[in-house]
Amino acid sequence: MSQGNRTKELQEEILKLKKGENIFLPAHNYQRPEIQEIADVLGDSLELARLAQKEIKADTIVFCGVDFMAETMSILNPDAEIYVPEPKARCPMAMMCPKNILIKAKAEHPDLPVVLYVNTLAEAKAEADVICTSANAAKVVKALGAEKVLFGPDKNLADYVEKKTGVKTIPVPEDGYCIVHVRFAPEMILELKRKHPNAVALVHPECEMEVQNVADIVGSTSFMFNYVKESKEKEFIIGTEIGLIERMKREIDGNKILIPASEKAICRNMKLNTLEKIRDVIINKPKENMVKVPEKVAEKARGALEKMFQLTK
Ligand code: 13P
Ligand code: SF4
Repeated sequence: MSQGNRTKELQEEILKLKKGENIFLPAHNYQRPEIQEIADVLGDSLELARLAQKEIKADTIVFCGVDFMAETMSILNPDAEIYVPEPKARCPMAMMCPKNILIKAKAEHPDLPVVLYVNTLAEAKAEADVICTSANAAKVVKALGAEKVLFGPDKNLADYVEKKTGVKTIPVPEDGYCIVHVRFAPEMILELKRKHPNAVALVHPECEMEVQNVADIVGSTSFMFNYVKESKEKEFIIGTEIGLIERMKREIDGNKILIPASEKAICRNMKLNTLEKIRDVIINKPKENMVKVPEKVAEKARGALEKMFQLTK
């Protein structure tokens, strides 16, 4: 059987199983295209977190993304039965901010609010005053009205927030980063701009400031998606993980020219989820694929997430 036919067969099998079992399948914009095609909803971290706030009328949720996203779903939807296709699909940046370094930073700066990027594990979120995502980081920090904040774990997002708001950010840890987005270099964007002088360059705020400075637009994955969709321009250089470009190619007017800033920008962790694993998790519901944040941690983390929603209403 050809690969294309095998993919179609698996997609049909999952859709059939899903219907029979009342399963909801949300997916992040970086998921493999064959998963995006059958997802119930696609989004950035903020959209997926907002979704988790709503009552989801499904017996089971199979969440396609990385660890912290499924945890956020569990924190905001404590009664739902949540599974992930691959428990090893973890975000390395989230692991850069264990709760002990936050406790230490808080002891050193007891008067400063703690703002944590949603790309953190639940135990770290439980130590935060408020959470933010790449879509609302500047708005959240500005709304706090503080002159200085502790901000973790992404140093590049912290620099972006500082530039946008004028609020000083103390990074925790000092140099947290995304292994995918730090691979973009300013020369890559500049070279593509030379080749495509009419193209609009969009990059994610997880890119280094030198890269952000040569781009035309800096925003979250869904912000980039909507920008390209609505724009009257024709050519776009896209500086983020290639999964987003796959979504753009499928959902946006084919006359628009999409130029990846790097074909090698692949988040291997996001790509650990596959159709086979989704099918198997629906059939077997293995305990090790279940995500349930203990209520003691969830309760505190929920407070920080709810503060984000409240500040950005
Ligand atoms: P978005 O919230 O912009 O989708 O980003 C999530 C992420 O992990 C980016 O690397
Ligand atoms: Fe984590 Fe970077 Fe992958 Fe996003 S792209 S999930 S920040 S490693």
